[in-house]
Amino acid sequence: MAKTVTNEQMRQQQSFILKLKEENQRFAVENGRQRLALTETYGCQQNENDTERIRGMLREAGFDFTEDSKKADVVIYNTCAVRENAEQKVFGRLGILKHIKQSRPEMIIGICGCMVQQEHITEKIKSVHEHVDLVFGTHALYRMPELLYKAMHQKKTVVEIESSDGEIAEDIPIMRENAQKAWVSIMYGCNNFCSYCIVPYVRGRERSRTPEAILKEVQELVDSGCTEISLLGQNVNSYGKDLDIEIDFSDILRMVNDIEGVERIRFMSSHPKDLSDKLIQTMKECDKVCKQLHLPFQAGSNRILEQMNRRYTKEQYLAKIERVKKEIPGISLSTDVIVGFPTETKEDFEDTIDVLKKVEFDNIFSFIYSRREGTPAAKLDFVLTEDEIHANFDRLLEVQNEISKRKNDAYVGRIEKVLVDGSSKNDSDILSGRCDSSKIVNFKGDKSLIGKYVDVRITEAHTWSLNGELIEN
Ligand code: SAM
Ligand code: SF4
Ligand code: F3S
Repeated sequence: MAKTVTNEQMRQQQSFILKLKEENQRFAVENGRQRLALTETYGCQQNENDTERIRGMLREAGFDFTEDSKKADVVIYNTCAVRENAEQKVFGRLGILKHIKQSRPEMIIGICGCMVQQEHITEKIKSVHEHVDLVFGTHALYRMPELLYKAMHQKKTVVEIESSDGEIAEDIPIMRENAQKAWVSIMYGCNNFCSYCIVPYVRGRERSRTPEAILKEVQELVDSGCTEISLLGQNVNSYGKDLDIEIDFSDILRMVNDIEGVERIRFMSSHPKDLSDKLIQTMKECDKVCKQLHLPFQAGSNRILEQMNRRYTKEQYLAKIERVKKEIPGISLSTDVIVGFPTETKEDFEDTIDVLKKVEFDNIFSFIYSRREGTPAAKLDFVLTEDEIHANFDRLLEVQNEISKRKNDAYVGRIEKVLVDGSSKNDSDILSGRCDSSKIVNFKGDKSLIGKYVDVRITEAHTWSLNGELIEN
C-alpha cells in the first residue's frame, strides 16, 4: 500500500498557507491591490487536476488570479514530458517571462510537473533559465505552499525534485474549473513501462487512493452541485492492486454509481491488456456510467506492439473490442495512436490503418512518435523517413475523419441528453455541451441553461461535432 502524507506534514503546509496569506494581506493594504497568480497547464487531465490543486492552495493563500503574465506576481507552469513539443512550448514561454522579469524582478516564476521530474531538464533550467525561482516535481505538489514561501524569501532558486515512487496526499485545497463536472484521480503513477513512454519515470509507481477517500471526494462534489464525475488514472484497470483490501476498478465504478446525485460517470484511461469482462459487465449494468470507452491501441502491428511492450496483440485487442460492442451496442469508442514508432515500416503502418477500419472509432487522438530520453525505445532506429512518417500521419487522419463523420451522421434525428458547458465566444445564443458519448453538441438556447441537462434533437453532423435543436420541456 502506498505511503500517505501524514496529517502533521499537511498541517505544516497549512501553516505556510497562513504565512503567505498574512503577507498577501499586508501587500494588498500597502499596494491597493491583491497579489495575482497565473497558472498554465501543459499535459493530460491528471495535470489539469493537479493545477486545480495548485490554484486551490494559491487561493487559500490569498492570491487572486490573472491570465496576463505582465500583471502576475507569481507564475506557475505545470508541465508535461510526454512529447518534445510540450517541452519546447514551456521553454519558449520561459524565454518570454525572462523579459517581463527584467522589468519586474520581484515576480516569482515557478515550474512544476512531469517535465522537471527529469534530471536533464532541471539542469537545463538551472543553467540556461536562471530567472526561474522555483522548480518542484510531481511528488512535491502538496508542498507547494512551503516551497513558494521559500522562493519568495530567498535569492537562490528553490528546487525540490524527489525521485521516490511517490506518496499520496489527501485533502489538498482545490479550486475546480467547472462546477458541474469534476475530475477525481483514483490513482497515481504507472507500472506499465511502455517502451516509448516517460510517464512511469516522472509519475512514479501505481498508487491507489483508498475507496473511502475517493467516495468522500465524490460525495463532497455532489453536495456542491456537481453531477458529472470523471475518474482518472494512467491505467484505471489496475486500481486497487496495491491496496490491502480486495477491490478493483469495477467495484469503485459501482460504488460511485450508487451515490445519489451523480448523473454521469466517465473514466480514463484503460489499458487493453487489463480490460476485464467484469468491467464490461459493470459498464453495462451501471446506468450512470456513460456508454463510452477510451481504449488506446497505439499500433496495429504485432511486432511493433511487442517492441512497445504493450503486452497484447492486434487480434487480442480486436477481440476485446468485439466483446465490448456485443455487450454494449452503440458504445462510443476512442483511442490513442502513435505514428512513426522506431522500426515501424510501411507494412506495420498498414496494420494500424486496418485496426481503424475494423473498429470504427468515434474519434482518435493521434501522435507522431517523440523520442524520450531514458526510455528503451530511444535506443531504436527509424526505418521510415520523417516525410514518410508525416505522410502516414496525414493518411491516418484522412481515414479516421471519414469514419468519424459517418459515425456522427448516424446521430442525426436522435434525441440526446446534453450537459450544457457554455456558450459560443462569437454568439452567446449558441450553447455547447456534451452528450452521453461525449460528443460535442451545439444548439441555440438561453445562457440560463448552462450547467443543466437538456434534450437536444440532432439535426446535422460534422466530423468533430453535432448540431441540434433544443427540445423545450
Ligand atoms: N496511460 C494512458 C494510456 O496508456 O492510455 C495515457 C498515456 S499518455 C499520457 C497519452 C498518450 O500519449 C499515449 O496513449 C500515447 O499514445 C501518447 N504517447 C506517450 N508517449 C509518447 C511518445 N513518446 N511519443 C508520442 N506519443 C506518446
Ligand atoms: Fe505510458 Fe503505457 Fe503507462 Fe500509458 S500505460 S502511461 S502509455 S507507460
Ligand atoms: Fe500527463 Fe504529460 Fe505527465 S501526459 S502524466 S502531464 S507527462
